[in-house]
Amino acid sequence: MLGFGFGLALGLVGALPVVLGWSSEAYGTFYPPTLNSTFYITNSSIGTYGGIYKADKNGPAVGTPYGTYDYCSMPHPRVQEYELPEALTKGHLQGKLVHLEYLQRHQRRTPYNILPGGENQAYHCDNVRPYLYAGPDSESGIQPLPMYAQTYQDPSNPFTPGVNGTCQYPQITIGGVQDGYQHGKDLWAVYGDKLGLIPKQPNNRVWFRSSESALTQGSAGAVLRGVWPCYNGALPLHQMVSSVDTVNEGYSCSAIGSTLNAITSTAEWNEHLTVTQSLRSTLGSILGASSDAWQGTFDHFADNFQARLCNGYALPCSVSNSSECVTMQMAEEVFRAGDWEWNYYWRTNPYVVKYIQVVEGLFIGEIIARLQAVLDGKSPLDYSHTFVHDGDIGPILGSLGITALRWPAMGSGIAFEIWKTNDKQNPLYARVLYSGQPVQTIHGALDWVPLSDLISIMSPYVPKDIVSLCG
Ligand SMILES: *[C@@H]1O[C@H](CO)[C@@H](O)[C@H](O)[C@H]1NC(C)=O
Ligand SMILES: *[C@@H]1O[C@H](CO)[C@@H](O)[C@H](O)[C@H]1NC(C)=O
Ligand SMILES: *[C@@H]1O[C@H](CO)[C@@H](O)[C@H](O)[C@H]1NC(C)=O
Ligand SMILES: *[C@@H]1O[C@H](CO)[C@@H](O)[C@H](O)[C@H]1NC(C)=O
Repeated sequence: MLGFGFGLALGLVGALPVVLGWSSEAYGTFYPPTLNSTFYITNSSIGTYGGIYKADKNGPAVGTPYGTYDYCSMPHPRVQEYELPEALTKGHLQGKLVHLEYLQRHQRRTPYNILPGGENQAYHCDNVRPYLYAGPDSESGIQPLPMYAQTYQDPSNPFTPGVNGTCQYPQITIGGVQDGYQHGKDLWAVYGDKLGLIPKQPNNRVWFRSSESALTQGSAGAVLRGVWPCYNGALPLHQMVSSVDTVNEGYSCSAIGSTLNAITSTAEWNEHLTVTQSLRSTLGSILGASSDAWQGTFDHFADNFQARLCNGYALPCSVSNSSECVTMQMAEEVFRAGDWEWNYYWRTNPYVVKYIQVVEGLFIGEIIARLQAVLDGKSPLDYSHTFVHDGDIGPILGSLGITALRWPAMGSGIAFEIWKTNDKQNPLYARVLYSGQPVQTIHGALDWVPLSDLISIMSPYVPKDIVSLCG
């Protein structure tokens, strides 16, 4: 205990009362044990495997109970349920949270994929203002008028968009904004108020980044307003030049496409298409969606149905025959197939190490570099928060060896917590929460592992030479 470098006044925890246990029942909805089998897709009695695919147009979605896989609004660290590491509450160690590396998918939104046969409903986005304006870098310079995008349709435009209304596709919806704000308030309650890591005002030890997408930028504004409701200034949201961005598949790399081709040429991939032949053909004929882009994976159907259900709309019907509709049972099979695909892409396909390396390896390397700086006692940051996409969250969870990977849903987040303890052999420990709870992996629950072990788990996914790997 002597020589321990920080005192109680610095927020040392270790003697605080034990809070509620993780709800293991809800927790189970994240990890279907049979996800690596196509029976998971075809067995209709599985339904949504306890998942929720429904949210109103407005308001933060409140998955019930906390911890449930909720596609529209994944759970996140929340003070009511947050538990300190057992090593601190029940063990002999004392420790303090010294670093938080937080990654999240943006909140709920309109779809990327508009039905080729047309949408039988309009999407309305007048209730959300996507701001975009530019000014000089000084407060004494010109202060721009805050301008926001207002999408409209002009009947004299001869090109019809296939969907009515006032949205862009994709764009964050009002429910997404409200959900983001709640997400930020909850992060503050845990990591600011309770654990004292996030400062009361942004300072030079916090850092933010997003992809080039308006979706992730919109999320950042909402979430960080929840973290700092009263802050009056502006903040930098770091972005790489989009042609070389290490998130959201920014840089071009032919090995990404060729590896994906290999993955979608395997017997397992083809089996999942064979067992869903009749579903895909029914959906194709109702929705005019028979092209390869719609039939070759479940990405587009799932995206379209999720966006409807997560924003208070119904599943689609044929535009030409309103009695031909997608049923919830069809949608559930689509969602199960989507989950199967994500698990296959990032966990069980034979090329998975290379695929994670080419898609996400550079970004995984950036995360490791920040964790290594903490290990070396040289970190310039206490709190780093990156706003990205499902296509980033998936491979990172894959690199951690998650036991089963359902589609990383709206607002899903990974919190890398680094704790400094009075363990003389090994002072720095890591804990990785996925959507608020320790992630279950082939290495065990990442609830309390030496920081150097966490770095060793992720390191094989960082390519030695991405430029030559990409070809
Ligand atoms: C997943 O299923 C495939 C095909 O049955 C099998 O070859 C593979 O070993 C399984 N992988 C895991 C991680 O269970
Ligand atoms: C289908 O799923 C149900 C519920 O999870 C399970 O009890 C049953 O064994 C499954 N059937 C097959 C053939 O996998
Ligand atoms: C879109 O709105 C126009 C004009 O109100 C209407 O004629 C058309 O049927 C609508 N289309 C759909 C798919 O709802
Ligand atoms: C519309 O779909 C229903 C249900 O599939 C079918 O019974 C009906 O004949 C269809 N109507 C037309 C005009 O095709």
